[in-house]
Amino acid sequence: MKDLTGKVAVVTGGASGIGRGMAEAFAASGMKLALADIEAEVLEVAVSALAGNGADVIGIPCDVADATSVGSLRDEVLSRFGAAHVLCNNAGVGTGGDPIWEAPLEDWDWVMGVNLMGVLHGIRSFVPAMIEQGDPCHVVNTASIAGLVHGRGIYGISKHAVVALSETLFNELREGGHDVGVSVLCPGFVRTRILESERNRPEAPRPAPGERAAQVEMMRQIMANLIEGGLDPVVVGRLVADSICEGRFYVLPHPHWNNMIEHRMRTILDGEDPINGPMPGELQELG
Ligand SMILES: NC(=O)c1ccc[n+]([C@@H]2O[C@H](COP(=O)([O-])OP(=O)(O)OC[C@H]3O[C@@H](n4cnc5c(N)ncnc54)[C@H](O)[C@@H]3O)[C@@H](O)[C@H]2O)c1
Repeated sequence: MKDLTGKVAVVTGGASGIGRGMAEAFAASGMKLALADIEAEVLEVAVSALAGNGADVIGIPCDVADATSVGSLRDEVLSRFGAAHVLCNNAGVGTGGDPIWEAPLEDWDWVMGVNLMGVLHGIRSFVPAMIEQGDPCHVVNTASIAGLVHGRGIYGISKHAVVALSETLFNELREGGHDVGVSVLCPGFVRTRILESERNRPEAPRPAPGERAAQVEMMRQIMANLIEGGLDPVVVGRLVADSICEGRFYVLPHPHWNNMIEHRMRTILDGEDPINGPMPGELQELG
């Protein structure tokens, strides 16, 4: 897909953070926009701001963890714009870093439901319509650098799964001869509300047990500083727009973290244990 002008982009999690950054970059490229989000009020604010700057934009409340809700999103987009050329499966949530044998099943259901099944629901709803349209189209799935390095916690597992899903989608579309490109976005820290993900959780999270509460709070503070010092979401959005036009699959907004990816590949090939190697400066606080 060489030119974005006049094309229709659908962005899940489009009310905040990286999704909103993509929306701004796409609007600047002359795209029409359908933003989908579970947070209806924040979605309205984003839609008004973009429309105020001249964008042709609609907001559609949607829960990506629910296949029916994503099916309705597709129907609304097609009925309003007649086509969908770019789909960004971007909505995602994070949760605390309990060891996986301790994390409650409710955490698995929520994080995998949004981060993995949400992406799959987007693919199952929109890709058949894109194939039928016949125009060049593109799917962007937001994973994370956590999906390319030795993983930690449910979040890391969900993001490894999104990378695997995206690689599979790329190959299956290519083998089918369809003109639908794929990219997987794998950022490090970006200045967003990801640490407040639980604002959108359907049921209340289990509080950390007393003896771990202080440790959880300390880690949260470190993460908050790292996220606050992260990339501007609009910079990530512009990189995504360029990657769609260039047909780039792996989108890595933090190239100075690439040695961690290289280290993972080397441990696999050398038969070593899956321990993360030297970390970039800003990550060393995490230990
Ligand atoms: N911020 C980072 O440092 C970072 C790094 C790597 C990857 N990511 C990924 O980027 C993506 C976007 O997150 P962000 O950092 O912009 O955070 P954010 O919280 O600012 O934005 C996420 C958006 O997704 C929406 N959302 C949550 N659950 C939803 C659901 N069930 N259905 C529909 N919408 C839902 C939220 O309302 C919010 O608008 C996520 O997939 C996240 O894992 C973020």
